[in-house]
Amino acid sequence: MPSPPRPRTDPLWSLTAACDADPRADRLDLLVGVYRDDTGSSPVFGAVAEAERDLAARAPSKEYLGPAGNRDFTDALTRTLFPSAAVRDTILAVQSVAGTGALRLLSELLAATGPDRTVHLGTPAYLNHRSILTTAGLRVREYPMLFPDGRPDPDAALAAVAAAAPGDALLIQGCCHNPTGAAMPGHRWEELAHALAARGVVPFVDHAYFGLGDGLDADLEGVRRMLEVVPEAVVAVSASKAWGLYNERTGCAVVVSDDPARRALAYGVMETTARAGYSQPPDHGARIVHEILTRPGLRADWLGELDSMRQRLGRLRDGLADALAERTGSTAFEPLREQRGMFLRLPLTTDQMARLRDEHAVHGLPSGRINLTGVPAPLVERVAEAVARVHGGSAAARPALSGARG
Ligand SMILES: Cc1ncc(COP(=O)(O)O)c(C=O)c1O
Repeated sequence: MPSPPRPRTDPLWSLTAACDADPRADRLDLLVGVYRDDTGSSPVFGAVAEAERDLAARAPSKEYLGPAGNRDFTDALTRTLFPSAAVRDTILAVQSVAGTGALRLLSELLAATGPDRTVHLGTPAYLNHRSILTTAGLRVREYPMLFPDGRPDPDAALAAVAAAAPGDALLIQGCCHNPTGAAMPGHRWEELAHALAARGVVPFVDHAYFGLGDGLDADLEGVRRMLEVVPEAVVAVSASKAWGLYNERTGCAVVVSDDPARRALAYGVMETTARAGYSQPPDHGARIVHEILTRPGLRADWLGELDSMRQRLGRLRDGLADALAERTGSTAFEPLREQRGMFLRLPLTTDQMARLRDEHAVHGLPSGRINLTGVPAPLVERVAEAVARVHGGSAAARPALSGARG
């Protein structure tokens, strides 16, 4: 009997296993996208801890909620993310198993409603995007989002839309692009929205890092503007980063359409997909987010904590860029200051990233992506020194990825 094809595993987990197995006491894990404080642990938001205490005291029932999950949660979340009255009436939201689950539900929806649909995906892309899309049966066409020198090409998505067939979809990250840290200003979102609407291409937005770029409203401005323009869109929302609920698997799949029949169809596909996959999403994280969003004091606390994290990310990024400029005398690291979010993409080749790991015990992705919060303030100088050594002071270092995934 022929042996079955080997499944393609996500390299992030094998790299993490290799980091865990690194015997050097000073090894630095800059791989996975989890916010860490200066002690290296992933803190629980104060607002989350308080919501959990209150929920425990009230001991709400744990009865089944159905495949669409906790509707109070999806309602509070979508009101926060998309407050415009005009958009609200066109929204269908289903709770998902975190952002990944939302991406999967929406991919199944796109596949079921457009058998010939291709999804256009800018590269370098989030490691899991292609896999989620193809597992749902969608075709994927990649386009390079960066110039060969590693700078973001602001017109790349527009060109991809122009080359797409009507009915195709364009996958766009809402803010703080993983892995490049690229940010798209609000007016470019609007321009892209008009191009998508004119071409009949569906925007598929992945929003995982809102609040960690330029502030909650600023990070959501692009998608909000887009939803005012396009007739249909799908948005995958993750609560993992903005509430620090990584292992609670909390998220939401949002479908925006001004046609009630299309929304009903979408609900049917997502309900069936959920029912056949895991039946219903877990509720604990959803209750926490609902509690935070609907109690004014807790909401203000959460917003304050999120903003402190964002400001710390800015300080870490600038601190590293300063230290690198000082050590190398090169301008190659200046673009780091423009990047946003939890990740930083160093302008290093895959070989240089391997040297960073082998010679300096600093573990990042081959794409040059590192988790900034894995570099607590006291270690900025050490990481800058290591990067400067492998970079060799050459301003001509070629970025690791232009086209490959990272
Ligand atoms: C761009 C992007 N989208 C979606 C996700 C999914 O997050 P989760 O499933 O943990 O909510 C991640 C996680 O790292 C991500 O980086």
